[in-house]
Formats: sequence, structure tokens, C-alpha cells
Amino acid sequence: MNDFLHFQQLASTNTFLEQLLQSQNRAKTPDCPDGLIVMTDFQTTGRGRQTNSWHSENSKNLLMSILIYPHLPVEAQFRVTEWISLAMTDHLRQNVGLDPRIKWPNDIYINEKKIAGILISHHWNSDEIASSIIGIGLNLNQERFPDTLPNPTSVILETGKKSDLTVTAINIREQLSRLRKEDATILHKKYLQLLYRRHVPALYTDTHSGETFEGIIEGVNNLGLLEIRSGNTLRNYELNGIVYS
Ligand code: BTN
Repeated sequence: MNDFLHFQQLASTNTFLEQLLQSQNRAKTPDCPDGLIVMTDFQTTGRGRQTNSWHSENSKNLLMSILIYPHLPVEAQFRVTEWISLAMTDHLRQNVGLDPRIKWPNDIYINEKKIAGILISHHWNSDEIASSIIGIGLNLNQERFPDTLPNPTSVILETGKKSDLTVTAINIREQLSRLRKEDATILHKKYLQLLYRRHVPALYTDTHSGETFEGIIEGVNNLGLLEIRSGNTLRNYELNGIVYS
């Protein structure tokens, strides 16, 4: 069973895996086993969240998508976000020696700089998640980034050390498969402990009203909504409902 596909170039590992899964009728087959990794050295149209693209110099960084069959109820979908966020932070702490944080919902930060982005798509089967495609862009060996990117960093910039792309991919998959077996309440606590800017007063903009306000992130509820306290009010935000200033 081949659970690791490596290509020199793809449009996007997420798009490739989505098409592969679709051609297998979204079912678990020997071609699409749980934990399947699609990795590439270069993406011609790497996708970020919303309408963003994902930049990465050829052969420098980890660009991969992992397929899992979580069999979770729809309302528990945020667990997939917690699994992969913690797999990334555990890898960066245990194998690289960094002290990462999770910027809600799943950007990975070192201090004020983004080292990794994650793009997840779920496929539903009645009221359960049948499959999830988890796209990961982790900056490893790239030392210079375009000025247009707001705050990028990489493992080499943070540690001075070069990383092996394949070893990193396998490590993250191992962390993910370990975390999937752990207790959900404990994982949710771990996620909150690593939440970027938690308990720190900061400015936020509500994208629906356009209002900028001072607030304090208190946590994330079980549905994955971000909880920000402003004065006496606890506000809940959905993805794309809030911008950090
Ligand atoms: C974000 O922070 O906006 C999410 C970025 C996700 C990028 C990765 S790179 C591998 C995978 N394939 C894609 O096209 N995107 C994800």
C-alpha cells in the first residue's frame, strides 16, 4: 500500500488529493488509504485560506496534504483543526526545539511571525465527516520571502538549521495519528494553552460591522468559534468574522 506520493510539481496538493478522492467516489480504497500524503516540491497555484495563494520557493519548504477519514459527527469538525494544529506544534517543539503558538484557527506562529498555514476541506456523509483533506505549508529552508507577505518566517531563520522535507512530513503524520487517539477534552485544553494572544488585550476588527474594538481572547468554544471579551460582553466569531490588528 503506497501511502506517500511525491511529485516534482503540482498545481496544488489539496486540489490533486481532492481530485484523486473524487475519482475513487470519496471512499477508502487502497489508492486512498487513511494517512495518505501527497507532497510536492513546487505548486503552480498553491492555495491559501479564503482567496489567498500560498507562496513557496522550489524545493525549500514542506508542501503536502494528508487524507484522513475522521468519522466524526459534523458538529465535532473543529477536532480535526485541533489535531493538526497540535501535530504541528508538537513537531516544532519536540523535533525542532521551537516554542510555537496557534493563531486561531490554525496558523502556526513563532512569536509574531507565521511559520505555517493549514487549509482543511471536509466531505460529509449524511451527518458525519467521511473524509478530510489537510493541506500544510510549513516554511523550512527558505531564507528570503517576497515583501508582499506580511510576517513570514521559517525553521532555518529561527534555528539556523536545515530540515529534511520527507522526514518532516513523516514526523507530522506520526504526531497526527497519535493525537487522533487522545482524549478530546485534554486536546482542547492543550489547544487553548497554545492559543496566540490568549488573555492579551489587543485590537480586533469585526468584518461584518467594520467596528474596531479592544478585546481579550478568552478561548475557543467546542464548535470552534473564537471567544473575545470586550467590556462585559463575550462575543463569538466565525472564521473570516474577525481580523487581528
Ligand atoms: C493559509 O494559511 O492560508 C493556508 C495555507 C495552506 C497552504 C498549503 S501548501 C500545501 C497545500 N496545498 C495548497 O494548495 N495549500 C495547502
